[in-house]
Amino acid sequence: MADLVSFWSAPKEPLDCLYLVTAEGKQPLEGLVLPGGNQKTIGRAVTELGVRGVEGEVLVTASPTPDFRRIACFGIGKGEDFTVHSLRKMLRRVLEQAGRNREYQIAVALPVSAHDLAQHDARTVALVELALADYRFDRFRSRPDESTKVDAVHVVPLKGEDKEELDEKLKHAHRVDSLIRLARDFGNRPGNDLTPEVFANEVATMFARSPVRVTVMGRKELEKDGLRGILAVGQGSVQEPRMVRLEYRAKKPRAAIALIGKGVTFDAGGISLKPAADMAEMKHDMAGAAAVVAAMRAVAEDEPPLKVVGLVPLVENLPSGSALKPGDILKMANGTTVEVDNTDAEGRILLADAMAYAGRFHPDVMVDLATLTAACKVALGSELAGLFANDDELARQLERLGHHTGDRVWRLPLLPEYRDLLRSEWADVKNIGGRWGSLPASASFLARFVPEKVRWAHLDIAGVADVSKSHNGLPPGATGFGVRLLLALLEELAAKA
Ligand code: BES
Ligand code: ZN
Ligand code: MN
Repeated sequence: MADLVSFWSAPKEPLDCLYLVTAEGKQPLEGLVLPGGNQKTIGRAVTELGVRGVEGEVLVTASPTPDFRRIACFGIGKGEDFTVHSLRKMLRRVLEQAGRNREYQIAVALPVSAHDLAQHDARTVALVELALADYRFDRFRSRPDESTKVDAVHVVPLKGEDKEELDEKLKHAHRVDSLIRLARDFGNRPGNDLTPEVFANEVATMFARSPVRVTVMGRKELEKDGLRGILAVGQGSVQEPRMVRLEYRAKKPRAAIALIGKGVTFDAGGISLKPAADMAEMKHDMAGAAAVVAAMRAVAEDEPPLKVVGLVPLVENLPSGSALKPGDILKMANGTTVEVDNTDAEGRILLADAMAYAGRFHPDVMVDLATLTAACKVALGSELAGLFANDDELARQLERLGHHTGDRVWRLPLLPEYRDLLRSEWADVKNIGGRWGSLPASASFLARFVPEKVRWAHLDIAGVADVSKSHNGLPPGATGFGVRLLLALLEELAAKA
């Protein structure tokens, strides 16, 4: 991970490059505190370079001071058009360029802010992005390529930002960075490496001797608690299903929250087998589970004044002689019967059981994250997660926090009319309807399993949980979507008096 350090004094050895982000119509160094009394000399060099700050401008010059080898100026255009989303993308570009140039020690000066976010929040966003920018999944490379990895980013302080304040922000960024890495690492592991059993055991080890109590439920425990949906989806694989339960309770909790993450370690579709093309992508089908584990890890570290339960149902969805079949009817944890019309709509079956089970913990708020439908990916692409909620306030909160954190969400309708799409001839409900309206139908299926009086939000992260090739400067693979959003949500719920 690129180490973030604050840049208060001139470096002993010259840094490879100073990256300076510049806006149109603004003095390039305004608002910065460059150590070593170099401000003027560098200012002159930048002016001579003819920096205008227009969008897309990248200009490089040799540094006139011994602190840096060179100075690279990245233009963002007019400050008033600059959004937090563009800020994120731009920082990824900066780090990408640094890596490509084999620069290992760089300084980044960000005297600009986003117009759609408070200065302090934008600063936080930027620092997380800088820490995260060199993420790569190289667990399976015999010789990981370290040559394009930035070792340290020296963050140039802003005027009025004192040492403690900046160090505090850097600490926060490192922490969020490590949680996102945790989620990405789980999300990226292929089916043969991360089976339900391995996933569950690793999570159990991770939370042993932590304030979060961890219980791994195996086949016996799932049977005992009537979680037949989870068992049914897993019955086609020799890898047995699990559910990990993570419980945390403060002395005087201000609210009770349940977090549920879809954990299909590989989704072949089951008997309703998927086509071969792109099937390998379904190794990311546990990204929701990964986000929940990362959020629970933050809970273990912070011990917020909350009650939080994390539920992570884990299965492998494969076809076999013992697999779940189309037409099968399941009795779920809350007694609802489900006719399985398509075994590839397995996520909602898992989630339904886990959501009903969550009722035992009497949550005020329940959030589930799932790579649930291709339809959501078709609708929103890789920019936004689909959000369904039975509560307007919770929906607005998630929209706002999504904007702040970059885990952006878009609300979609949860109308009673969509329930009709899933009418079954033989059971209470079918797990799929027709093609039209299949996205809201998936959410209306889940809604049947929300325990009473629970404020609930469902995040369909199928489009955002992973990217197949670099997108918006993100590396290919799992994105860790949802971690920042859940952290922000927990933080707000804990702050509420
Ligand atoms: N895990 C998939 C959804 C998915 C598809 C995620 C593509 C990311 C990319 C899910 O289990 C699934 O197979 N959904 C089906 C449901 C259909 C059978 C109603 C789908 O969306 O095609
Ligand atoms: Zn799936
Ligand atoms: Mn599926």
